[in-house]
Amino acid sequence: MNLLQINTSIRGEQSHSSHLATLLTEKLQAAYPDSELIKRDLAQSAPPLLDGAALGVLFTPAEQRDAEQQALAERFDALIDEIQQADRIVLGVPMYNFGIPAQLKAWFDAIARADLTFRYTESGPEGLLRGKKVYLTLTYGGQHSDTPLDTMTPYLQTMLGFLGMTDLTFIHAEGLARSGDVAELALRQAELEIAALEI
Ligand SMILES: Cc1cc2nc3c(=O)[nH]c(=O)nc-3n(C[C@H](O)[C@H](O)[C@H](O)COP(=O)(O)O)c2cc1C
Repeated sequence: MNLLQINTSIRGEQSHSSHLATLLTEKLQAAYPDSELIKRDLAQSAPPLLDGAALGVLFTPAEQRDAEQQALAERFDALIDEIQQADRIVLGVPMYNFGIPAQLKAWFDAIARADLTFRYTESGPEGLLRGKKVYLTLTYGGQHSDTPLDTMTPYLQTMLGFLGMTDLTFIHAEGLARSGDVAELALRQAELEIAALEI
């Protein structure tokens, strides 16, 4: 059992989404004591940006790349290898400016690769990252889930589903920028939801 925890908050030790993700990972580790864990912090180590040059490199056969291009291709390939190996994925995702963190978008751009993580068939696209379970801890300063302002939940469902990951468990903690004890209560509620999860 390979576990992959991906933190995407830019707030380091202060991060609520990473804190909740860690609780989930600890629960998975307790359920699968022999599991191997990889923790990837996309804010500390951002994926390469899929710009025009990078796209060109990925479409250049390996034997025609120069050393710099090959090194860049290997950074993309390593992220694909990591997600292919993972059986359980825990994803901590804060809302920044009404969307997912830019680093997480860069990660999706890095791992979406035709014939490796998805393919086109006569009946439409098919995700190749199958048989995985994904747990997501989403944090918001406001209260947006189940409204059109929550761009994160539908996007994550679409993107992960496109890649073949359809077994998704969402934990939402909302109102974390609100005054009074709203934030504290939302965090405690999310922690209780994690504790009650059937892994
Ligand atoms: C740069 C930045 C932008 C933010 N934009 C939004 C936003 O658009 N909507 C929202 O509800 N909360 C927003 N927030 C609040 C965060 O979602 C909230 O603080 C959450 O706890 C962040 O998760 P984290 O603690 O894991 O970083 C923003 C916070 C930061 C730092």
